[in-house]
Amino acid sequence: MNYFTALLFATLFSASLFAQDLLTNPAQRQSTSLDGSWNFIVDPYENGYYDYRWQPNPNGFFKNEKPKSKSERIEYDFDKSEVLNVPGDWNSQKKELFFYEGTIWYKKSFDFQKNVGKRVFLRFGAANYRALVYLNGEKLGEHVGGFTPFTFEITDLVKEKDNFLVVKVDNKRCAECVPTLNTDWWNYGGLTRSVKIIETPGTFINDFFIQLKKGSMHEVSGWTKLIGRQLKQHITVDIPLARIHRRFETDANGFAHFTFSADLALWSPDDPKLYDVTIASETDTVSERIGFRTIEAKETQILLNGRPVFLRGISVHEEAPLRSGRANNAEDALTLLGWAKELGCNFVRLAHYPHNEFMTEEADRMGLLVWSEIPVYWTIQWDNDSTYRNASRQLAEMIARDKNRASVAFWSVSNETPIGEPRLAFLKGLLIQARLADSTRLLTAAMERHYTDATTQMIDDPLGEFVDVLGCNEYIGWYDGLPEKADNIKWKTVYNKPLIMSEFGGDALYGFHADSLTIWSEEFQEHLYKHQLSMLRRIPFLRGMSPWILMDFRSPRRQLPGIQDFRNRKGLISNEGNKKKAFFVLQKYYSEVKQAKQSRP
Ligand code: GCU
Repeated sequence: MNYFTALLFATLFSASLFAQDLLTNPAQRQSTSLDGSWNFIVDPYENGYYDYRWQPNPNGFFKNEKPKSKSERIEYDFDKSEVLNVPGDWNSQKKELFFYEGTIWYKKSFDFQKNVGKRVFLRFGAANYRALVYLNGEKLGEHVGGFTPFTFEITDLVKEKDNFLVVKVDNKRCAECVPTLNTDWWNYGGLTRSVKIIETPGTFINDFFIQLKKGSMHEVSGWTKLIGRQLKQHITVDIPLARIHRRFETDANGFAHFTFSADLALWSPDDPKLYDVTIASETDTVSERIGFRTIEAKETQILLNGRPVFLRGISVHEEAPLRSGRANNAEDALTLLGWAKELGCNFVRLAHYPHNEFMTEEADRMGLLVWSEIPVYWTIQWDNDSTYRNASRQLAEMIARDKNRASVAFWSVSNETPIGEPRLAFLKGLLIQARLADSTRLLTAAMERHYTDATTQMIDDPLGEFVDVLGCNEYIGWYDGLPEKADNIKWKTVYNKPLIMSEFGGDALYGFHADSLTIWSEEFQEHLYKHQLSMLRRIPFLRGMSPWILMDFRSPRRQLPGIQDFRNRKGLISNEGNKKKAFFVLQKYYSEVKQAKQSRP
């Protein structure tokens, strides 16, 4: 992948986000939920899709066939099969599916009363990893990538009665996939987020973006895009609480760009002010709760609403608190982000993939800045064009979904990827694409560091030149020496940019107590945090941190019996919600930083 191909893809994908995707932004539209119990068939040999010659079978399980006579041989029956909950991963719902990676077929029957003149869409919040979707036996399409939404139009296919929606979900890992074969999180499979039916008028508001113009605290800028026959329309933008009512016209393509000055209370973690914003056309109206803020990087400072900010953060995986499996509802978000607030955070790194919408909407409400990332993780296939298109698509979908979230301040394009030319061209392409799609946020990546001598850590990854904010993962005291090692370490970088230490930490089993050098004990983790924080204080360009990690999480790479048992134990809170000693070390440190009101510790 060379620079020019990357540039081409970047331009194509930014444009496609606009042209191809239907109902990109469902906003707060009314919808019919298809959540609940779905019948399922486990299909490790993809018998429901391929025939014995491994050729696609036109009469696969998506036909949901029933025997029409006593002699007819049909070798599957969804309605006699067990059920899985949607939203939900299958691994945590059925013991026998705990380790399962492969295909599972889902089936949901439903009736639907369509309104005259309306268009009807089917929206999936996410499905891990590859989903093939069929309605009433017809293929609607497919989606690759486990953490972003996708939508299909069903206006002409949906019936009043007895619709059957069949989805083939396959979470098999592959080398050319994103993420690739190796990750340190559980490969939860299934329809992991909500499925709903959304109706719109014939010509509808497909998408809109509204935020303060980059670098301005009084100029609002945005756009809206109509889809349908009647593309030239009047558009109004209303923010009643700020007494704003503006009128604009769409062009022949249904697109309207708008700017206007406004006197708004700015969103920040200390005051997460949200406004009801309504965009209306002659045929459609959508509303969202939106915060207005600016976020910039100036030399080594991160400026929120023009003022230096220090990011008191924590990394979070999208695992459900107090139960197993993927987090997927408002309550989960409230618990996880509530713990982050309790820790004294004003920032969360949602790792290593876009989390569900409840998380970013709750971060808007609670006042937590968000780092959102696509799963370009470790060593993916940098030279593979299909891998690039996949990553680029996931980036486009992540930005499209959360572009109106004030909390989301950072787009991250990768985590711990190895230095090299193909990788650099790959990631530069994604950064160009992100900047084209959204100039109002900061771009970053979680990079690695190296020693220039026994006590000097250097951040000079070539990728650092192309991001706005440096992200760096370090495990001094865990994978690299003992906790005390941090005491003599100094940090350097070749970049005049702010640094977020995006990961550091160590494992501890909640309730295991010993002296501070006994690994896996709470005292060891507590000790490590103390040495880490005193090292971090000494980094002149440090502007934030997101220690690894808020809560213990499932990982297939953690097999130590009695300690890990398939969980990464670097959480400051156990998966049962118990706070470890290190939680209080970080909490105390964050309250000191907050009190000092210093932009750096
Ligand atoms: C890595 C990685 C995480 C992983 C962590 C760990 O840095 O980014 O995904 O879980 O280290 O080893 O615990």
